[in-house]
Amino acid sequence: MCGIVGYFGKRNASDILVDGLRRMEYRGYDSAGVACLYDGEIGVVKNPGKIKGLREKVDASGSGVLQNSIQGIGHTRWATHGPPTEVNAHPHLDVSGHFVMVHNGIIENYKQIRNGLSQHGIECVSDTDSEVLVQLIAYCYKGNLESAVSEALKKVKGTYGIVVMTDKEPGKLVTARCGSPIVLGLGKGETLVASDAAAIMPHTRDAVYLEDFDMAVITDDGVQMFDLQHSPVDREVTEMDWEEGAAEKGDYEHFMLKEMFEQPAAIRNAIRGRLDYEMGTSVLSGLDFSPRDAALISRILVVGCGTSMHAGMVGEYAIEEMAGVPAEVEQAAEFRYRNPIITPTDFVVAISQSGETADTLAAVREAKHKGAVVAGICNVVGSTIARETGRGVYLHAGPEIGVASTKAFTCQVSVMLMIALKVARTRRLPLHEGAEFCRWIERLPELVEKVLEQNDAIKSIAQKYASCDNAFFIGRGYLYPVALEGALKLKEISYVHAEGYHAAELKHGPIALLQEDTPVIALLNNIPGKEKTIGNAEECKARKAPVIAVVTEGDEEAAEGFDDVIVIPECPPSITPVPTVVALQLLSYHIAAARGCEIDQPRNLAKSVTVE
Ligand code: F6R
Repeated sequence: MCGIVGYFGKRNASDILVDGLRRMEYRGYDSAGVACLYDGEIGVVKNPGKIKGLREKVDASGSGVLQNSIQGIGHTRWATHGPPTEVNAHPHLDVSGHFVMVHNGIIENYKQIRNGLSQHGIECVSDTDSEVLVQLIAYCYKGNLESAVSEALKKVKGTYGIVVMTDKEPGKLVTARCGSPIVLGLGKGETLVASDAAAIMPHTRDAVYLEDFDMAVITDDGVQMFDLQHSPVDREVTEMDWEEGAAEKGDYEHFMLKEMFEQPAAIRNAIRGRLDYEMGTSVLSGLDFSPRDAALISRILVVGCGTSMHAGMVGEYAIEEMAGVPAEVEQAAEFRYRNPIITPTDFVVAISQSGETADTLAAVREAKHKGAVVAGICNVVGSTIARETGRGVYLHAGPEIGVASTKAFTCQVSVMLMIALKVARTRRLPLHEGAEFCRWIERLPELVEKVLEQNDAIKSIAQKYASCDNAFFIGRGYLYPVALEGALKLKEISYVHAEGYHAAELKHGPIALLQEDTPVIALLNNIPGKEKTIGNAEECKARKAPVIAVVTEGDEEAAEGFDDVIVIPECPPSITPVPTVVALQLLSYHIAAARGCEIDQPRNLAKSVTVE
């Protein structure tokens, strides 16, 4: 969703800001803007639409401020309050034109604040909830920016990550957070601030993540951090470990394609050093569990949204099957609002690539509040969910830039399988079976490679069906979550209406929609219940729907009579979701490419959904 970047140093600020915004484009946005301060003057340039347009406007501005400034702020906006127009785009100026601010999050009491300001003759010009905050900061200003910011923030209900500056105090940026991430990048003679490490990475690896209610004042003297009461706070400097070029597309046409092909390496990173063959278990030190702790778990609850929730579903099946421990997956927003029953022996696992998803974070807080042990499975190091859970497993998948999640999913499943193994070994799973399972986890990258080798063949199948308006994905058992994930991938990047169903569920209604131009992707891999799914696929065929059969290598007869076939290497049922989903990712990608869609930034979508 929205992205923030700020810079104070020695180099040209507008270049660094626009480049930072470009690096956050993947998060999804519909307008962008920058503001710079130079020689006592604030210059603002905004553009509804893409960063390219903003860049052109900055270049054409001819403004001495934007060309010479070494201090500024920038923003990409994903519209919530008011359409994506220039006036609604950030940075927002106050009415006097002396204060300028960028904001992520939602100011819930903005109407009351706006009415209050209006009584003092201060009228907001945009439709946004954000603008009230800069007006309020200006109103609270009595000669010191950080005091005005803390004063204003005490009156705000909601979430914020902000960066503010004023021409009354050149050489100063003030930033603060509550519920919306802010990371500081400490460079040599320069400081960056952003909502996303991607904007900072090219300049420095030394990062400081602000906690909720922290403020930071950035000046020539460096960074000082306070809480809203002005008591100093100390936050650790961490080193960002993403490799150089990890956030670049390289020779690939899209980030999504690159990230699909990175999956073998990403999974290798996710499992590296985490398999213990001698004890036939996994070593997940971040979970902070002794075998005794693991043995005492009575139930595992997995919360997440979208793709992450689908990964959790695979984990649910594996935990119940291998460990015999009851497991449930719940959509994070539902978990939070339905007052779930939690006991002290429940173990709650929150899955989130970004570690910032608002609903998942809210579920974490609810589960902690109810006394559960909560762990996070996150990709982004230092993200809010990772920090608030305080225990968990990082994916180490590297930055995922494409909005459609691919490598995060396969790494999430790999980690869930390792959690299932760990719990199972404290229960009924014997050592030799644990060791055998370790071997299968270790083979995941190789299985994925075999599917990636079929890229051209899958592309040809995709081109056959690229003009369809509807598609169905069916599967059962471990492949039911994969059917859901396959449909999600297709709809989000190609805008084809796609539904994932349990194979048995199709004839309880959805089968009415099948016709000649509605492909059904049937997951017929060799797992328990395969024959039944073949029967369900036959039912689709009998309604004239073309069927793309996904089958296990060596079991190609399962595809007999169907229109197209994709072959997945042989592996146990709990392992097969990983190579199978890769085939569906490729299929969706090539359908979207054939339809000329904007694959990395699908319309209306944001990479990190930080509002509920
Ligand atoms: C789909 C996708 C989303 C995310 C969901 C949760 O491709 O990426 O469905 O999985 O928004 O995001 P995280 O994992 O960051 O919590």
